[in-house]
Amino acid sequence: MIPVFKPLIEQEEIDASTESLKLGWLGMGSYVSEFENKIKEILGVENRYVAALSTGTAGLHIALIVAGVGKDDEVIVSSFNCSADFQAISWLGAKIIFCDCDDTTLAIDLEKAAGLVTSKTKAIIAMDYDCILCDHDELKNFAEKYQLRVIHDAAHSFGSFYKGKPVGSFSDICVFSHDPVKTITCLDGGTIVVKTQEELMQVHELRLLGMQQPASVMYQNKRAWTFDVERVGYRYHMLNMHAAVGLAQLSKLDVITETRRAACKRYNSLLGNISLVRVPQTDFTEVNPFLYYIRVPGEHRDDLRDFLRGKGIDTGVHWQPGHWFSLWKDCQAGDLTITAKVGNEILSLPLHSKMESGIVDTICENIAQYFTKQD
Ligand SMILES: Cc1ncc(COP(=O)(O)O)c(C=O)c1O
Repeated sequence: MIPVFKPLIEQEEIDASTESLKLGWLGMGSYVSEFENKIKEILGVENRYVAALSTGTAGLHIALIVAGVGKDDEVIVSSFNCSADFQAISWLGAKIIFCDCDDTTLAIDLEKAAGLVTSKTKAIIAMDYDCILCDHDELKNFAEKYQLRVIHDAAHSFGSFYKGKPVGSFSDICVFSHDPVKTITCLDGGTIVVKTQEELMQVHELRLLGMQQPASVMYQNKRAWTFDVERVGYRYHMLNMHAAVGLAQLSKLDVITETRRAACKRYNSLLGNISLVRVPQTDFTEVNPFLYYIRVPGEHRDDLRDFLRGKGIDTGVHWQPGHWFSLWKDCQAGDLTITAKVGNEILSLPLHSKMESGIVDTICENIAQYFTKQD
Protein backbone atom coordinates (compact mmCIF):
# COMPACT_ATOMS: atom_id res chain seq x y z
CA MET A 1 0.00 0.00 0.00
CA ILE A 2 1.35 3.46 -0.86
CA PRO A 3 0.68 5.38 2.37
CA VAL A 4 -0.65 8.94 2.49
CA PHE A 5 2.15 9.91 4.88
CA LYS A 6 5.64 8.47 5.18
CA PRO A 7 8.00 10.06 7.69
CA LEU A 8 11.55 10.72 6.54
CA ILE A 9 13.43 8.93 9.32
CA GLU A 10 17.03 8.31 8.27
CA GLN A 11 20.33 7.64 10.01
CA GLU A 12 20.59 11.31 11.11
CA GLU A 13 17.38 11.11 13.13
CA ILE A 14 18.36 7.75 14.65
CA ASP A 15 21.84 9.05 15.61
CA ALA A 16 20.37 12.25 17.05
CA SER A 17 17.88 10.29 19.18
CA THR A 18 20.61 7.98 20.46
CA GLU A 19 22.88 10.87 21.37
CA SER A 20 20.13 12.70 23.20
CA LEU A 21 19.23 9.55 25.15
CA LYS A 22 22.87 8.98 26.05
CA LEU A 23 23.01 12.51 27.47
CA GLY A 24 20.67 11.24 30.17
CA TRP A 25 18.63 14.46 30.50
CA LEU A 26 15.34 13.39 29.03
CA GLY A 27 13.17 16.42 29.72
CA MET A 28 13.46 19.94 28.34
CA GLY A 29 17.13 20.80 28.00
CA SER A 30 19.97 21.81 25.72
CA TYR A 31 18.51 20.21 22.58
CA VAL A 32 15.30 22.19 23.04
CA SER A 33 17.24 25.42 23.32
CA GLU A 34 19.20 24.51 20.17
CA PHE A 35 15.99 23.65 18.33
CA GLU A 36 14.41 27.00 19.25
CA ASN A 37 17.53 28.88 18.14
CA LYS A 38 17.59 26.99 14.85
CA ILE A 39 13.94 27.84 14.18
CA LYS A 40 14.66 31.49 14.93
CA GLU A 41 17.60 31.40 12.53
CA ILE A 42 15.42 29.86 9.79
CA LEU A 43 12.72 32.48 10.34
CA GLY A 44 15.43 35.15 10.25
CA VAL A 45 13.76 37.17 13.00
CA GLU A 46 15.17 39.37 15.71
CA ASN A 47 11.80 40.77 16.76
CA ARG A 48 10.06 37.46 17.42
CA TYR A 49 10.34 34.93 20.28
CA VAL A 50 10.20 31.18 19.79
CA ALA A 51 9.22 28.46 22.26
CA ALA A 52 9.17 24.72 21.60
CA LEU A 53 6.19 22.75 22.87
CA SER A 54 4.88 19.20 23.17
CA THR A 55 2.39 19.51 20.28
CA GLY A 56 0.87 22.01 17.88
CA THR A 57 -2.41 21.61 19.75
CA ALA A 58 -0.68 22.77 22.94
CA GLY A 59 0.56 25.73 20.90
CA LEU A 60 -2.98 26.66 19.87
CA HIS A 61 -4.20 26.40 23.48
CA ILE A 62 -1.37 28.61 24.73
CA ALA A 63 -1.80 31.03 21.80
CA LEU A 64 -5.45 31.59 22.69
CA ILE A 65 -4.54 32.24 26.34
CA VAL A 66 -1.80 34.69 25.35
CA ALA A 67 -4.33 36.39 23.06
CA GLY A 68 -6.51 36.92 26.12
CA VAL A 69 -9.30 34.55 25.10
CA GLY A 70 -11.39 33.39 28.04
CA LYS A 71 -14.81 32.08 28.97
CA ASP A 72 -17.65 33.24 26.70
CA ASP A 73 -15.33 35.17 24.38
CA GLU A 74 -15.90 34.47 20.72
CA VAL A 75 -13.25 33.14 18.36
CA ILE A 76 -13.87 33.12 14.61
CA VAL A 77 -12.42 30.07 12.90
CA SER A 78 -13.00 28.36 9.59
CA SER A 79 -15.12 25.24 9.96
CA PHE A 80 -12.72 23.77 7.42
CA ASN A 81 -9.93 23.22 9.92
CA CYS A 82 -8.41 20.61 12.19
CA SER A 83 -10.35 19.65 15.32
CA ALA A 84 -7.28 20.69 17.36
CA ASP A 85 -8.30 24.32 16.80
CA PHE A 86 -11.87 23.69 17.90
CA GLN A 87 -10.77 21.74 20.97
CA ALA A 88 -8.38 24.49 22.06
CA ILE A 89 -11.21 27.05 21.91
CA SER A 90 -13.55 24.68 23.75
CA TRP A 91 -11.01 24.05 26.56
CA LEU A 92 -11.17 27.75 27.42
CA GLY A 93 -14.96 27.87 27.59
CA ALA A 94 -14.86 30.29 24.68
CA LYS A 95 -17.34 30.16 21.81
CA ILE A 96 -16.49 28.79 18.41
CA ILE A 97 -17.90 30.96 15.64
CA PHE A 98 -17.67 28.90 12.50
CA CYS A 99 -16.88 30.76 9.29
CA ASP A 100 -16.86 29.53 5.70
CA CYS A 101 -13.69 29.00 3.65
CA ASP A 102 -12.74 30.41 0.28
CA ASP A 103 -13.51 28.12 -2.64
CA THR A 104 -10.05 28.50 -4.24
CA THR A 105 -7.57 28.93 -1.40
CA LEU A 106 -9.56 26.99 1.23
CA ALA A 107 -8.44 29.65 3.72
CA ILE A 108 -10.95 31.43 5.97
CA ASP A 109 -13.25 33.72 3.95
CA LEU A 110 -12.56 37.15 5.42
CA GLU A 111 -15.58 38.79 3.78
CA LYS A 112 -17.86 36.33 5.51
CA ALA A 113 -15.82 36.61 8.71
CA ALA A 114 -16.55 40.36 8.78
CA GLY A 115 -20.23 39.55 9.19
CA LEU A 116 -19.49 37.38 12.23
CA VAL A 117 -17.62 39.94 14.34
CA THR A 118 -19.45 41.02 17.52
CA SER A 119 -18.45 42.92 20.65
CA LYS A 120 -17.47 39.54 22.16
CA THR A 121 -15.05 38.57 19.38
CA LYS A 122 -11.50 38.35 20.76
CA ALA A 123 -9.55 36.56 18.07
CA ILE A 124 -9.57 34.99 14.65
CA ILE A 125 -7.73 31.78 13.79
CA ALA A 126 -6.39 31.65 10.24
CA MET A 127 -4.87 28.45 8.91
CA ASP A 128 -2.75 27.95 5.79
CA TYR A 129 -4.25 24.86 4.20
CA ASP A 130 -1.59 22.64 2.76
CA CYS A 131 0.08 24.39 -0.17
CA ILE A 132 -1.85 27.65 -0.44
CA LEU A 133 -1.29 30.32 2.16
CA CYS A 134 -3.90 32.73 3.51
CA ASP A 135 -3.84 36.31 2.27
CA HIS A 136 -1.89 37.46 5.31
CA ASP A 137 -1.92 41.14 4.30
CA GLU A 138 -5.72 41.09 4.18
CA LEU A 139 -5.78 39.22 7.46
CA LYS A 140 -3.65 41.91 9.11
CA ASN A 141 -5.97 44.65 7.79
CA PHE A 142 -8.98 42.68 9.02
CA ALA A 143 -7.51 42.26 12.50
CA GLU A 144 -6.57 45.94 12.72
CA LYS A 145 -10.02 47.04 11.55
CA TYR A 146 -11.84 44.93 14.15
CA GLN A 147 -9.07 45.05 16.80
CA LEU A 148 -8.69 41.29 17.03
CA ARG A 149 -5.75 39.09 17.87
CA VAL A 150 -4.72 36.73 15.08
CA ILE A 151 -3.67 33.17 15.74
CA HIS A 152 -1.92 31.95 12.64
CA ASP A 153 -2.23 28.18 12.55
CA ALA A 154 0.78 27.36 10.42
CA ALA A 155 0.72 23.63 11.17
CA HIS A 156 0.93 22.99 7.42
CA SER A 157 3.27 25.75 6.35
CA PHE A 158 6.60 25.51 8.16
CA GLY A 159 9.31 26.32 5.62
CA SER A 160 6.92 28.24 3.35
CA PHE A 161 7.20 31.90 2.40
CA TYR A 162 4.56 34.61 2.05
CA LYS A 163 5.63 37.29 -0.44
CA GLY A 164 9.25 36.40 0.29
CA LYS A 165 8.86 36.41 4.08
CA PRO A 166 9.25 33.14 6.03
CA VAL A 167 6.00 31.92 7.56
CA GLY A 168 6.37 32.56 11.28
CA SER A 169 8.21 35.85 10.83
CA PHE A 170 5.27 38.23 10.42
CA SER A 171 2.16 37.01 12.27
CA ASP A 172 0.67 38.23 15.52
CA ILE A 173 0.97 34.74 17.09
CA CYS A 174 2.07 31.81 14.95
CA VAL A 175 1.88 28.09 15.76
CA PHE A 176 3.66 25.23 13.98
CA SER A 177 3.09 21.51 14.39
CA HIS A 178 5.89 18.95 14.30
CA ASP A 179 3.69 15.92 14.83
CA PRO A 180 4.48 12.47 13.36
CA VAL A 181 3.21 13.28 9.87
CA LYS A 182 4.32 16.89 9.44
CA THR A 183 7.00 18.04 6.99
CA ILE A 184 9.38 18.63 9.92
CA THR A 185 8.60 16.11 12.61
CA CYS A 186 9.90 15.99 16.18
CA LEU A 187 7.98 12.69 16.62
CA ASP A 188 5.57 15.02 18.39
CA GLY A 189 6.07 18.69 18.93
CA GLY A 190 5.01 22.22 18.23
CA THR A 191 6.47 25.70 18.12
CA ILE A 192 4.88 28.99 19.07
CA VAL A 193 6.22 32.32 17.83
CA VAL A 194 5.22 35.46 19.74
CA LYS A 195 6.03 39.15 19.40
CA THR A 196 7.24 40.23 22.84
CA GLN A 197 9.47 39.09 25.68
CA GLU A 198 6.46 39.38 28.04
CA GLU A 199 4.45 36.99 25.88
CA LEU A 200 7.40 34.59 25.79
CA MET A 201 7.53 34.61 29.61
CA GLN A 202 3.82 33.80 29.67
CA VAL A 203 4.42 30.92 27.25
CA HIS A 204 7.27 29.60 29.39
CA GLU A 205 5.06 29.53 32.49
CA LEU A 206 2.10 28.08 30.61
CA ARG A 207 4.17 25.26 29.09
CA LEU A 208 5.64 24.09 32.39
CA LEU A 209 3.06 23.97 35.18
CA GLY A 210 3.18 27.72 35.77
CA MET A 211 6.68 27.36 37.22
CA GLN A 212 8.72 30.53 37.16
CA GLN A 213 12.03 28.70 37.04
CA PRO A 214 13.97 30.29 34.20
CA ALA A 215 14.13 28.29 30.97
CA SER A 216 17.81 29.26 30.78
CA VAL A 217 18.51 26.92 33.73
CA MET A 218 16.75 23.97 32.10
CA TYR A 219 18.51 24.68 28.82
CA GLN A 220 21.71 23.70 30.67
CA ASN A 221 20.14 20.32 31.52
CA LYS A 222 19.58 21.39 35.12
CA ARG A 223 16.61 22.41 37.17
CA ALA A 224 15.96 25.13 39.67
CA TRP A 225 14.58 23.68 42.90
CA THR A 226 12.88 26.79 44.20
CA PHE A 227 10.59 29.08 42.22
CA ASP A 228 7.19 30.68 42.47
CA VAL A 229 3.95 29.72 40.69
CA GLU A 230 1.48 32.54 40.04
CA ARG A 231 -0.71 31.10 37.33
CA VAL A 232 -2.33 27.93 36.08
CA GLY A 233 0.02 26.09 33.74
CA TYR A 234 0.20 22.91 31.70
CA ARG A 235 2.75 20.24 30.86
CA TYR A 236 3.36 21.35 27.31
CA HIS A 237 7.16 21.57 27.04
CA MET A 238 9.21 19.80 24.39
CA LEU A 239 11.54 16.93 25.34
CA ASN A 240 15.24 16.73 24.48
CA MET A 241 14.91 13.66 22.25
CA HIS A 242 12.07 15.23 20.27
CA ALA A 243 14.14 18.37 19.74
CA ALA A 244 17.12 16.25 18.66
CA VAL A 245 15.01 14.57 15.98
CA GLY A 246 13.66 17.98 14.96
CA LEU A 247 17.18 19.34 14.56
CA ALA A 248 18.10 16.42 12.31
CA GLN A 249 15.00 17.14 10.25
CA LEU A 250 15.74 20.88 10.04
CA SER A 251 19.18 20.12 8.63
CA LYS A 252 17.32 18.60 5.63
CA LEU A 253 14.72 21.33 5.22
CA ASP A 254 15.90 22.21 1.70
CA VAL A 255 15.70 18.67 0.35
CA ILE A 256 12.38 18.09 2.11
CA THR A 257 10.93 21.23 0.53
CA GLU A 258 12.35 20.62 -2.94
CA THR A 259 11.22 17.01 -3.19
CA ARG A 260 7.72 17.75 -1.90
CA ARG A 261 7.36 20.69 -4.27
CA ALA A 262 8.53 18.58 -7.20
CA ALA A 263 5.99 15.84 -6.39
CA CYS A 264 3.17 18.41 -6.13
CA LYS A 265 4.14 20.03 -9.44
CA ARG A 266 4.10 16.65 -11.11
CA TYR A 267 0.70 15.86 -9.62
CA ASN A 268 -0.66 19.18 -10.90
CA SER A 269 0.71 18.62 -14.38
CA LEU A 270 -0.60 15.06 -14.63
CA LEU A 271 -4.02 15.64 -13.05
CA GLY A 272 -4.72 19.18 -14.24
CA ASN A 273 -6.28 18.02 -17.49
CA ILE A 274 -8.80 15.61 -16.02
CA SER A 275 -12.06 17.52 -16.25
CA LEU A 276 -13.60 16.21 -13.03
CA VAL A 277 -10.48 16.82 -10.95
CA ARG A 278 -9.73 20.21 -9.38
CA VAL A 279 -6.06 20.66 -8.50
CA PRO A 280 -4.59 23.30 -6.15
CA GLN A 281 -4.28 26.65 -7.95
CA THR A 282 -0.62 27.33 -7.25
CA ASP A 283 2.78 26.78 -8.81
CA PHE A 284 4.14 25.82 -5.36
CA THR A 285 7.01 28.32 -5.73
CA GLU A 286 6.98 29.65 -2.19
CA VAL A 287 5.61 26.69 -0.28
CA ASN A 288 6.84 23.64 1.54
CA PRO A 289 3.72 21.53 0.92
CA PHE A 290 2.40 19.34 3.71
CA LEU A 291 -0.41 17.66 1.75
CA TYR A 292 -1.30 17.27 -1.85
CA TYR A 293 -5.05 17.43 -2.29
CA ILE A 294 -7.49 17.28 -5.14
CA ARG A 295 -11.19 17.98 -5.25
CA VAL A 296 -13.53 15.66 -7.10
CA PRO A 297 -17.34 15.75 -7.33
CA GLY A 298 -18.77 14.60 -3.99
CA GLU A 299 -20.59 11.64 -5.54
CA HIS A 300 -17.25 10.23 -6.77
CA ARG A 301 -14.98 10.91 -3.79
CA ASP A 302 -15.54 7.81 -1.66
CA ASP A 303 -15.86 5.55 -4.71
CA LEU A 304 -12.52 6.86 -6.00
CA ARG A 305 -10.97 6.21 -2.57
CA ASP A 306 -12.19 2.60 -2.71
CA PHE A 307 -10.92 2.22 -6.28
CA LEU A 308 -7.46 3.54 -5.34
CA ARG A 309 -7.33 1.38 -2.22
CA GLY A 310 -7.97 -1.61 -4.47
CA LYS A 311 -4.91 -0.55 -6.47
CA GLY A 312 -2.75 -0.31 -3.35
CA ILE A 313 -2.98 3.47 -2.97
CA ASP A 314 -4.14 4.96 0.32
CA THR A 315 -5.80 8.37 0.46
CA GLY A 316 -6.98 10.71 3.21
CA VAL A 317 -9.74 13.18 4.00
CA HIS A 318 -8.53 16.46 5.50
CA TRP A 319 -11.08 17.25 6.85
CA GLN A 320 -14.65 16.69 7.83
CA PRO A 321 -15.87 20.22 8.64
CA GLY A 322 -16.11 21.18 12.31
CA HIS A 323 -19.84 21.83 12.24
CA TRP A 324 -20.44 18.20 11.18
CA PHE A 325 -19.16 16.88 14.53
CA SER A 326 -21.71 16.13 17.29
CA LEU A 327 -19.79 18.23 19.83
CA TRP A 328 -19.80 21.39 17.71
CA LYS A 329 -22.89 21.05 15.52
CA ASP A 330 -24.72 23.76 17.49
CA CYS A 331 -21.87 26.28 17.50
CA GLN A 332 -22.93 29.59 16.12
CA ALA A 333 -22.16 29.64 12.42
CA GLY A 334 -22.58 31.82 9.38
CA ASP A 335 -23.13 30.58 5.84
CA LEU A 336 -21.03 27.43 5.44
CA THR A 337 -21.96 26.45 1.88
CA ILE A 338 -18.41 26.24 0.54
CA THR A 339 -17.13 24.36 3.58
CA ALA A 340 -19.86 21.74 3.22
CA LYS A 341 -19.04 21.33 -0.48
CA VAL A 342 -15.31 21.06 0.17
CA GLY A 343 -15.94 18.54 2.97
CA ASN A 344 -17.53 16.22 0.41
CA GLU A 345 -15.00 16.82 -2.37
CA ILE A 346 -11.60 16.96 -0.68
CA LEU A 347 -9.17 14.09 -1.05
CA SER A 348 -5.52 13.91 0.07
CA LEU A 349 -3.15 11.90 -2.10
CA PRO A 350 0.14 10.40 -0.90
CA LEU A 351 2.90 12.96 -0.48
CA HIS A 352 6.28 12.11 1.03
CA SER A 353 9.64 13.81 1.36
CA LYS A 354 12.08 12.34 -1.20
CA MET A 355 9.12 10.74 -3.02
CA GLU A 356 10.00 8.98 -6.24
CA SER A 357 8.30 10.51 -9.27
CA GLY A 358 7.30 7.01 -10.46
CA ILE A 359 4.94 6.75 -7.47
CA VAL A 360 3.20 10.00 -8.41
CA ASP A 361 2.87 8.77 -11.99
CA THR A 362 1.29 5.49 -10.86
CA ILE A 363 -1.21 7.31 -8.65
CA CYS A 364 -2.14 9.73 -11.45
CA GLU A 365 -2.52 6.91 -14.01
CA ASN A 366 -4.98 5.20 -11.68
CA ILE A 367 -6.97 8.38 -11.11
CA ALA A 368 -7.11 8.95 -14.87
CA GLN A 369 -8.25 5.35 -15.34
CA TYR A 370 -11.02 5.80 -12.76
CA PHE A 371 -12.41 8.87 -14.50
CA THR A 372 -12.11 7.29 -17.97
CA LYS A 373 -14.38 4.52 -16.70
CA GLN A 374 -16.96 7.15 -15.64
CA ASP A 375 -17.22 8.64 -19.17
C1 LIG B 1 -4.19 22.71 10.82
C2 LIG B 1 -3.73 21.97 12.03
N1 LIG B 1 -3.71 22.61 13.20
C3 LIG B 1 -3.29 22.01 14.33
C4 LIG B 1 -2.88 20.70 14.33
C5 LIG B 1 -2.48 20.05 15.61
O1 LIG B 1 -1.11 19.83 15.67
P1 LIG B 1 -0.52 18.63 16.54
O2 LIG B 1 -0.88 17.35 15.87
O3 LIG B 1 0.96 18.89 16.54
O4 LIG B 1 -1.09 18.74 17.90
C6 LIG B 1 -2.89 19.98 13.13
C7 LIG B 1 -2.49 18.58 13.11
O5 LIG B 1 -2.70 17.83 12.21
C8 LIG B 1 -3.33 20.64 11.95
O6 LIG B 1 -3.37 20.00 10.78
